[in-house]
Amino acid sequence: MTRVLVAYATKFGSTREVAAAIARELITSDLDADFAEASGSLVPEDYDAFVIGSPLYGGTWISSAGMFVAIMSERMDGKPVALFSIGTMLLKSSERGRGEHTSFIDRLREVAPSLNVVADDVFAGYFDRANLPWYLRLIDRFSPTPQGDHREWSKIREWTKSLVPIFTAR
Ligand SMILES: Cc1cc2nc3c(=O)[nH]c(=O)nc-3n(C[C@H](O)[C@H](O)[C@H](O)COP(=O)(O)O)c2cc1C
Repeated sequence: MTRVLVAYATKFGSTREVAAAIARELITSDLDADFAEASGSLVPEDYDAFVIGSPLYGGTWISSAGMFVAIMSERMDGKPVALFSIGTMLLKSSERGRGEHTSFIDRLREVAPSLNVVADDVFAGYFDRANLPWYLRLIDRFSPTPQGDHREWSKIREWTKSLVPIFTAR
């Protein structure tokens, strides 16, 4: 059975729930999936494929997720890797939201050239204005991000389903 590691970073928990939903969907599709916070204690050799994700903060991933990819990329040994970002910039400008994701993934590929990226996407997250530091709350007033849970579970499930044939191809 294909073993998949879903590794994530999070500050406030919304990306953990996305990672859990991805792992559940993979299991429903008869793959063996674990989900865990990205850390040096994970063992890439135990898996056949990887889904790795992080929320965007200030246009980049949380460093633990980026470091995990950079440090573990050689040990992923050319196995398929799918990358996802979570963010709310998308809600204000799809172009800017996608642009932040794409430019981060491009940088990741530069620092980890052996990474076999087979898919990547960005999904809307959960926005609570109270989590912004005061100076960003001031900036947000000029072009407010819609408050609340914007995660589109059906989109996330469809993306996960599209990974199954890629992960199981021999
Ligand atoms: C301080 C702060 C900065 C953020 N910066 C970005 C950003 O640059 N781009 C983006 O798309 N979303 C941004 N967001 C939205 C978060 O990515 C979104 O709320 C996400 O769901 C948080 O994930 P988490 O709950 O797993 O930490 C920001 C949110 C906060 C609170």
